[in-house]
Amino acid sequence: MRHKRRNDWKRAAFLLLGFVLLWNTVGAQIHYTIAEEVKEGSIVGNIAKDLGFDVSRVAKSKLRIASESSRQYFDVDTEKGELIVNGRIDRETLCGQAVNCLVPLQIIIEEPLQLHRVEIEIQDINDNAPNFHTKESVLKIAESAALGSRFPIESAEDPDSGKNSLKSYSLNSNEHFRLNVKALDGGRKVPELILDKPLDREKQLIHKLILTALDGGDPVRSGSTLLKIVVEDNNDNEPHFELQIYKASVQESAGIGSNVVTIKATDMDEGINGEIQYYFAAHTPDYVRKVFNVNPDSGEITVIGKLDHEGINSYTFDICAQDKGYPKLEGHSSVHIRVIDENDNPPEIILTSLPNPVPENATVGTVVALINVMDLDSGENGKVSLKIPKGFPFKLKSSFENHYSLITDSSLDRELNSEYNIEIVATDSGSPPLKTVKTINVTILDVNDNAPAFSQTSYNVYIKENNVAGSSLFSITALDSDVNNNAILTYSVVDSKVNDIPASSYFYINSENGTIYSMSSFDYEKVKRLTLIVQAKDHGSPSLSSNATLHVFILDQNDNAPSVIYPSAVMGSVSHQRMPRSAKPGHLVTKVTAVDADSGHNAWISYRLAEATDASLFSVNLHTGEVRTKRSLSEQEDSSQRLLIEIQDNGEPVQSTTVTVDVLIEDGFHEPISDYPKKSTDPNKKSGKITLYLIISLASVSLLCLMTFFMLLAKCARSSRGSSSCCIRRSDSGYKNPNRNLQIQLNTDGPIKYVEVLGGDMMSQSQSFGSYLSPMSEFSDFTLVKPSSTTDFTDTLNVLDASLPDSTWKFESQQTNFGLR
Ligand SMILES: *[C@@H]1O[C@H](CO)[C@@H](O)[C@H](O)[C@H]1NC(C)=O
Ligand SMILES: *[C@@H]1O[C@H](CO)[C@@H](O)[C@H](O)[C@H]1NC(C)=O
Ligand SMILES: *[C@@H]1O[C@H](CO)[C@@H](O)[C@H](O)[C@H]1NC(C)=O
Ligand SMILES: *[C@@H]1O[C@H](CO)[C@@H](O)[C@H](O)[C@H]1NC(C)=O
Repeated sequence: MRHKRRNDWKRAAFLLLGFVLLWNTVGAQIHYTIAEEVKEGSIVGNIAKDLGFDVSRVAKSKLRIASESSRQYFDVDTEKGELIVNGRIDRETLCGQAVNCLVPLQIIIEEPLQLHRVEIEIQDINDNAPNFHTKESVLKIAESAALGSRFPIESAEDPDSGKNSLKSYSLNSNEHFRLNVKALDGGRKVPELILDKPLDREKQLIHKLILTALDGGDPVRSGSTLLKIVVEDNNDNEPHFELQIYKASVQESAGIGSNVVTIKATDMDEGINGEIQYYFAAHTPDYVRKVFNVNPDSGEITVIGKLDHEGINSYTFDICAQDKGYPKLEGHSSVHIRVIDENDNPPEIILTSLPNPVPENATVGTVVALINVMDLDSGENGKVSLKIPKGFPFKLKSSFENHYSLITDSSLDRELNSEYNIEIVATDSGSPPLKTVKTINVTILDVNDNAPAFSQTSYNVYIKENNVAGSSLFSITALDSDVNNNAILTYSVVDSKVNDIPASSYFYINSENGTIYSMSSFDYEKVKRLTLIVQAKDHGSPSLSSNATLHVFILDQNDNAPSVIYPSAVMGSVSHQRMPRSAKPGHLVTKVTAVDADSGHNAWISYRLAEATDASLFSVNLHTGEVRTKRSLSEQEDSSQRLLIEIQDNGEPVQSTTVTVDVLIEDGFHEPISDYPKKSTDPNKKSGKITLYLIISLASVSLLCLMTFFMLLAKCARSSRGSSSCCIRRSDSGYKNPNRNLQIQLNTDGPIKYVEVLGGDMMSQSQSFGSYLSPMSEFSDFTLVKPSSTTDFTDTLNVLDASLPDSTWKFESQQTNFGLR
């Protein structure tokens, strides 16, 4: 028994002990025990000696190891018969995990040939640390793994055996896992992780654990491995919006495709669990979906429809973000989109009442129309101001916001302006402002504020006398600038008196068109001028009127024949004159004096000798009517001369009358009158005679007047009861006039009432005169008598005297140059 190393005392002692033990227990078979990993050349034992050989014979016996494979570990020293270690002996290589590691050797001895079996037990030494196959392993665990779940992990290996083999595991301290070592059948120890605390991938994705395996050797050897625990994602996180509410605004004019807002949610999960899609929340109403779209991938909310601030000025809706995990998880948020107003609506003018027609006398401030303005836009865009152009008599009054009344601002006059078309302009305050124009028509109602107006205040009308009663004289027209009833005029004659007779008895006026008719025939010789007042009155309420004065001038017509005043032919139609036969040429026989009731030319009278017994004897002065002798009278001259003197006026047609003068030529008679132009020696006597004639003629005229008066009185008294009129028939008077025949006719049809008095000879030309006889009239007789050609002068004179008003005579007195003198 030899120990191969001098310095390795410990090992040597151990081996020695093993050797002794084997020696005791093994008889036939030699058993050696060596520790593994001994040095090359170490002596295991002296085989020769142990087999009982003499050391001296060892060399001869040729001791050798039979199996080639064993020779890599052991060899035999043929000189000394020692078994020595030939190479490195690793028990774990030779025997693995076997508890006993025996290496059998066949020893062959050639002299004498013998085969011996030698057993070498290789004893383990703690030369191996526990070892993990992978230094780093990855373990995937779902984050949803339940508490207490077990996860087997790789176990370590330690090739050493016995107490040098793997003994325990340890895990570094951590929150989530603890280590459990499970003993399997056959004593293998398998480590496993037990989940102690839930995992959260989102908190910690990877947990790094270090697992250490320890053996039981001395010193303890260990091996470790890194356990990477990857927490696998579970869809345990819902998408989460960044904002609880998204607020955005968009112009109402925003076009389709405009981006309004982008929503964004995050999901802490990974993979499809974290892939988010955006949607409208399920309950989102259609009106939102029609206008907005949510891009599922980008979360962009865009406009897809027409926005209208005036329709919907804000949208609030919910959105959801959904991941693609299983099950899908959702996150919610809401979006508030304000639609910003733009000035896209023009103001609107609403007439709450149609404009009332306004009477022109309306007081300032009268409400004409009520107007509302409206603008669908809001804010400044919806602020509307209302204006009317200048120059109208109206203004706007704002009663309260957006309510206006159109009121009159000054006095109105329909006659100036009967209708106003007012352009009302409404402008909003937007930028640019929008405006609306509306025309309202205000009608001005007429008020009877204008009196009828005649073109002149007075009119002159000329009519010829003897006009036909009932003929139209004149047409008078007034204008009224009002309208309708206020302008419908009625004409009337104001009841003024003309010569104490109401004007209405002379004239009739067509109340509708102002045509004036005469109701009687006028006689210039009685009335030269009439004045009447015509009134035009409108139908307004109250009505207005105005007056115009109408001066009616009666134009003279030659309707009167001259009438002879002298010589008066009272006793018949022949006047008798006497003259002395001794009268010298130029002796004034008589002077014919005539008057003409007409005037002007119609009254210019001329005298002419129409017939004479002896035309050479007398001449008549054309102008003065003086009848003079042309020559001296001889004794043969007829003592009775008859002269027919024609008296003519200058009218058209000419009216004439004649007077017959019988001249009685007396011998020795000295007629003072006849002589008076020549006998100026006795002026007093001559003038006395003239005075006498005048007195006589005046007295006779007065007498006639008186008689006429009494007769009229008597007649009136007699007929006053039954008759409304009083008329005197000239034929009743004492004057003889067999040809006179007066006819009275009462015209009762039509508005015009008049009496026609037909005078004169029925055989001669009949002329009629109209006279209106009013029962009220004091002037009961208004009869004009036209003498016929056969009427004698006295009669005419008397009639004239009785009927003509004084004024008629005025004219005559102006013509005295050829009248009475
Ligand atoms: C306007 O005229 C009418 C008719 O003349 C009258 O009834 C009314 O009182 C007048 N109004 C005013 C305000 O003067
Ligand atoms: C207002 O008057 C004008 C012109 O007279 C006319 O064209 C318009 O139609 C009228 N408007 C109304 C509302 O009567
Ligand atoms: C007035 O009316 C009357 C009767 O209708 C008619 O005869 C006359 O010609 C009219 N006058 C005018 C000026 O129209
Ligand atoms: C018209 O004349 C009548 C009678 O003279 C008178 O009463 C009335 O006042 C006058 N009218 C006017 C407007 O002058």
